[in-house]
Amino acid sequence: MFICASKIQIMIEAHAIPVTKAERSRLPDISLENIPFGKYFTDHMLEADFVNGEWKNVEIKPYQPLVINPSLAAIHYGQSIFEGIKAYKNQAGEAFIFRPYDNFKRFNISAERMQMPAVPEDIFIEGMRQLVELDKNWIPARKDHSLYIRPFMFATDEMIGVRPAETYKFMIILSPTGPYYAAPMKIYVEEKYTRAAPGGIGYAKAAGNYGASMFVTAEAKKQGYDQVLWTDVHEHKYVQEIGTMNVFFIIGDTAVTPDLSSQTILAGVTRASVMTILNDMGLRVEEKPVPIDMLIAAYQKGQLREVFGTGTAATVSLIRALKYKDTVMQFDTEQWTVTPAIKERLDAIREGRVEDIHGWMFKV
Ligand code: COI
Repeated sequence: MFICASKIQIMIEAHAIPVTKAERSRLPDISLENIPFGKYFTDHMLEADFVNGEWKNVEIKPYQPLVINPSLAAIHYGQSIFEGIKAYKNQAGEAFIFRPYDNFKRFNISAERMQMPAVPEDIFIEGMRQLVELDKNWIPARKDHSLYIRPFMFATDEMIGVRPAETYKFMIILSPTGPYYAAPMKIYVEEKYTRAAPGGIGYAKAAGNYGASMFVTAEAKKQGYDQVLWTDVHEHKYVQEIGTMNVFFIIGDTAVTPDLSSQTILAGVTRASVMTILNDMGLRVEEKPVPIDMLIAAYQKGQLREVFGTGTAATVSLIRALKYKDTVMQFDTEQWTVTPAIKERLDAIREGRVEDIHGWMFKV
C-alpha cells in the first residue's frame, strides 16, 4: 500500500532538495524489532534524472512504484549499480551515517566501469543526508539494527540497441533492518564456478555480479551451505570473497585477508574499517593472495583460529565451517575472542558508545 503525497512542496533547508511529504507515515504499522533485511521501506525516497548530459529533477518524495517502459535499457543489458550504507542512532537519539563518503567514491568507481555518469556529491551525500533526516524515526534503536541505505542508478533509455545509455536514474531508498545473518555460517569454497576475473567487473558494485551468484549459491545451499567463498578464475586456488562479504582469517596472531590488486574483489568499507580496528587492537593485518592450501595447512596445525566475513549488510559475521573438496574445516565459534571483539568495537563506534577516533560517523 502506498500513501498519497500531500500537494505541499516543502524545502527542508537553504540549499535543500524539493520534498513532497507522505500524507501519513507507515511507521506505526511496522515493528522495528528483529526486522528482516530489505523487506520494509521508509516513507520517502530520493530520485534524480541524468538527461542531456546533466543531473536534474532531484527530489524527495513518498516511496512509490516506478513506471517503466519494457524497453528500459537497464533491464536488457544490466547498466545498473548500487551501494549499501547504514545509519545508526547514538545514545542521545541523534542520527549518523557510517562512512558515506567511502561509498560515494566507490559508487562512482562502479559507474565509471559500467560506462555510466558520475553522481555529484550534492545529490549523493546531501540527498542522502536530507532523506535520512526526514525518515530518521525509522532508524531502529536496537542492538544489531540500523537503517540500511540503498543508493542505486540504472540506465533509463527506452532503446534496446546495445550501447551505453544516454539517460539514467539515480535513487536512494531506505530500509530498517535487523541482523543479516543471524547465526554463524557454513561456507562452500567454490572450485567450479567463478564470480570475477581480472579485467572484469568484480570490483564494481554492479547488479549483475549479484545476479550471477544466485545459481551457484543455490547449488551450495542444496549441499547444506549458506554461501559460497569464491576462488580465482585460473586455478580455483586463491580465495576472493564470500557472497555479500569480504573475508578475514585469524591465523596465529595475524589477520589475513585477500588483497585487492587483481580487481576481482569489492573494496569493502566494512573491510577497511575492520583492518583499522584490527590495527588499533594490536593485531598484524596482512592483505595478500590467500591460497586455500595455506588455510588448510594452518587449520591442520591448529593455527587457523577464526574466520569471519565483513559487509555493510552483514557487518561482521562468524563462519563456523569451510568446505573445500573433501576437507571440512569446522570451528567452535563460542571459543572465539578476536571476531567478537572487532564486532563489539565497530558496534560501539556506530552506536556512539565510544569515541569515534577515526571520524567515521557522519552527522545527519
Ligand atoms: C551490502 O552489504 O550492502 C551488500 O552489498 C550486500 C547486499 C547485496 C545485501
